[in-house]
Amino acid sequence: MDHFLKISNVDTLYFDRIYALHGLTLEIKKGEIFAIMGPNGAGKTTLLRTIAGLLKDQPKKGIIDFNGRQIQRLTPEKISSLGIVYVPEDRGLFRELTVKENLDLGCWGRRDDRIKADLDYVYDLFPILKEREAQQAETLSGGEQQMLAIGRAFLRNPKLLMLDEPSLGLAPLIARNVFDALIKISGLGTTILLVEQNAKLALKIANYGYILEAGRIVLQGTASELMENRDVQELYLGVGGENISPKGWRLYKKRRSW
Ligand SMILES: Nc1ncnc2c1ncn2[C@@H]1O[C@H](COP(=O)(O)OP(=O)(O)OP(=O)(O)O)[C@@H](O)[C@H]1O
Ligand SMILES: [Mg+2]
Repeated sequence: MDHFLKISNVDTLYFDRIYALHGLTLEIKKGEIFAIMGPNGAGKTTLLRTIAGLLKDQPKKGIIDFNGRQIQRLTPEKISSLGIVYVPEDRGLFRELTVKENLDLGCWGRRDDRIKADLDYVYDLFPILKEREAQQAETLSGGEQQMLAIGRAFLRNPKLLMLDEPSLGLAPLIARNVFDALIKISGLGTTILLVEQNAKLALKIANYGYILEAGRIVLQGTASELMENRDVQELYLGVGGENISPKGWRLYKKRRSW
């Protein structure tokens, strides 16, 4: 088997007429960390939701092959049972339940004998969760909620872990903490697909990256190739100046190489 997740020519539409993904093609290898970056409205969240099967009757066209099996017409439950776990931008926690209850729900349906060890591992990754075990999820800080969401996702024993903007709203130190945990989880053999606005952070931990604009992949490469690309530096890494202005963006669109 040479590929793990292979997406070919996928179209996802909203209201049957607005293309959020248009002929999207990408491939993800087993065991690595992949980052998807792109401006607001590019289709990043739509891509994760399409893979997870959360958009009714979508993708309209194309093939999503996971481990040699076509999954584009399966239900979200079936897709998650194949080992694809999605952590949405809002983290999807059970807000009224405690930290421990949320983690226990992550183990729901598991029958193996590693549950206790995996739970200990989560507490090792994020010791603060152990301290907050009995606290309601909605009373956690943003960073703690993200840790809980990742911990719970890890307990579902994913083959592919997909995260939508895990660093959003987190202080740099906490974001770093969360990303360090992702490196460790990936080291245990879980493939990670990360959607991030913060390209600097994402490319630090990713092996490979994709730039998504207006529903298409416009550039891809290893993390170091992307970090050396002038357009990526200017637009996504903030090298060589202040944040890009609307005029800067238009100029960039004229001269960009893709
Ligand atoms: N539920 C929806 N109904 C209709 N249009 C939608 C819906 N969700 C997203 N869209 C549209 O699809 C396009 C892609 O949106 P998407 O949320 O995937 O972008 P994104 O790259 O995740 O952006 P952001 O960085 O702001 O999170 C946008 O034009 C958006 O307005
Ligand atoms: Mg989004």
